[in-house]
Amino acid sequence: MLFFVDTANLDHIREAAELGILDGVTTNPSLMAKEGITGEKEVLKHYRSICEIVGKDRDVSAEVISTDFAGMVAEGKKLAELHENIVVKVPMIKEGVKAIAHFTELGIRTNCTLVFSAGQAILAAKAGATYVSPFIGRIDDTAWDGMKLIKDIFEIYGQTGYETAILAASIRNPLHIVQAAKAGADVVTCPLSAIMGLFYHPLTDIGLEKFLADYNKANG
Ligand code: G3P
Repeated sequence: MLFFVDTANLDHIREAAELGILDGVTTNPSLMAKEGITGEKEVLKHYRSICEIVGKDRDVSAEVISTDFAGMVAEGKKLAELHENIVVKVPMIKEGVKAIAHFTELGIRTNCTLVFSAGQAILAAKAGATYVSPFIGRIDDTAWDGMKLIKDIFEIYGQTGYETAILAASIRNPLHIVQAAKAGADVVTCPLSAIMGLFYHPLTDIGLEKFLADYNKANG
């Protein structure tokens, strides 16, 4: 399973990359706004910086703002030309599916975002999306079972042979990561805090303390 970090914060991306386990980055307009990145020039510059931090053969999802086919295609082409890492992120709406199908024909990789049902995941795969992004945390927020959606998409894609990768998004904590892995996600994208949460276990700390104490006792 690939690990993407879901942020536009360059320090977090650097920290995740330094761990040696980072496969990519996802961003969205809210995450860019949170970092104060505004205006086309600044946005493109920021995407280029992200691509340079993550390095070669990593994916960086950059989202279009337009909601009409022509606008999405124009924006997506510009984003894709920016760097070879760029994956064009497109919302799951009619015009978006049309744009994804067009990008597929052009050989431009896509991430279909804002997916909340198995039916939408089928449409994304039919259009040839590289990734489909079901939003787990936001489904959980409504007292539905986000992980069930990952399981359903995994089952459907397995049966139909769709090659779209399942990118579990809106992953908020370490348990979500473990559950997404069990449910068959190909990728998880989450804040750095969720990845860091995977490290911690009190028995690891206690065990290491004991190993070092025994070593010091034996070696004076
Ligand atoms: O990848 C989508 C993600 O950014 C949404 O996460 O926590 O805003 O639901 P969240």
